[in-house]
Amino acid sequence: MNIPFLNFSPMHSAIKAEMQEAFNRVYDSNWFVLGKEVEQFENAYAAFNQVKHAVGLSNGLDALHLALKACGVGVGDEVIVPSNTYIATVLAVSYVDATPVFVEPNKETYNIDPNRIEASITSKTKAIMPVHLYGQACEMTTIMSLAKKYHLYVIEDNAQSQGASFDGKLTGSWGDINATSFYPGKNLGALGDAGAVTTNSDELAQKVRVFRNYGSHKKYYNEVIGHNMRLDELQAALLRVKLKNLNEWTAQRQQIAAWYDEALKDVEGIILPKTAEDATHVYHLYVIRTNKRDELQKNLNDNGVGTLIHYPNPPHLQEAYQELGYKKGDFPIAEEIADTALSLPMWPGMTQAEILFISTEISRYFNKV
Ligand SMILES: Cc1ncc(COP(=O)(O)O)c(C=O)c1O
Repeated sequence: MNIPFLNFSPMHSAIKAEMQEAFNRVYDSNWFVLGKEVEQFENAYAAFNQVKHAVGLSNGLDALHLALKACGVGVGDEVIVPSNTYIATVLAVSYVDATPVFVEPNKETYNIDPNRIEASITSKTKAIMPVHLYGQACEMTTIMSLAKKYHLYVIEDNAQSQGASFDGKLTGSWGDINATSFYPGKNLGALGDAGAVTTNSDELAQKVRVFRNYGSHKKYYNEVIGHNMRLDELQAALLRVKLKNLNEWTAQRQQIAAWYDEALKDVEGIILPKTAEDATHVYHLYVIRTNKRDELQKNLNDNGVGTLIHYPNPPHLQEAYQELGYKKGDFPIAEEIADTALSLPMWPGMTQAEILFISTEISRYFNKV
């Protein structure tokens, strides 16, 4: 069997006709930027995420950037981020000239450890950015009460977790303003780059609408120095088709995770994903951990199974962040995850036979070593 890391075909073939219809509608409309399609998708996504506003943007990184900017985070401010996130979370902090302050994750959920946040809060802290990593919701109740106690903004990075919830409340609906990504491989993916912010605040939503469109509310009149960070009509139309299927695709991801859990539960030498009490997991990624990660990855590759590592080098050790002065050993949990994590194939439409094939290869490998 040859199993890639990700295969869009089962999802995309089922909706091909509807996607082509959406394309034709935009093509025939002769209107391609900031129009009815963006507005309709924003309304649909806000309803899905149970928030008042969604603002469509060019990508997830720009969404994080504009969320911070709308909150007025800037020079001299500190922003708390997990030490094991994707680089985009940290880059957004740099774009507003603030300083990222890394907090270690919980070793079991891989999400920022709320019990470690308070020790990192200083008089300069302006915001906390929890990242719902791999598809699991962070422990939002503790994070929200800390933010309240210290008067901090909360900006969720919901790029990997559309549809997840903590304590029954959706990710992307807790923070003051939250960012998400519709990069093609995300749970809700466009056919190109796209993103959004979600918020219940009229004021923050309006600020992002102005920032995304050259700092202009009224054409050719610029209130602030803005950007061109708009979602386009075509991606919005395609995303609206895909959004209707998201809950079904999430259920399939959860079923696939349950098949992996069952098939791998007795394999010694690997740690399976764990979901915290009160959290749900939408399995953007199914990440196992093992000390034999690199050998296992090679073995799976030799047997036709594609895997990826999310992520091999934590932000504090990236060359780009040398100036922060961190060294190996400063964030040992993030480093351990980077050294041991392996993401197995995961996409809606994967079959149980494929999961069994992958799991058998993994069991076989560990029986040999
Ligand atoms: C956690 C996280 N934050 C932010 C981003 C940035 O999103 P985008 O690629 O749309 O800029 C991504 C994905 O790439 C991500 O995984």
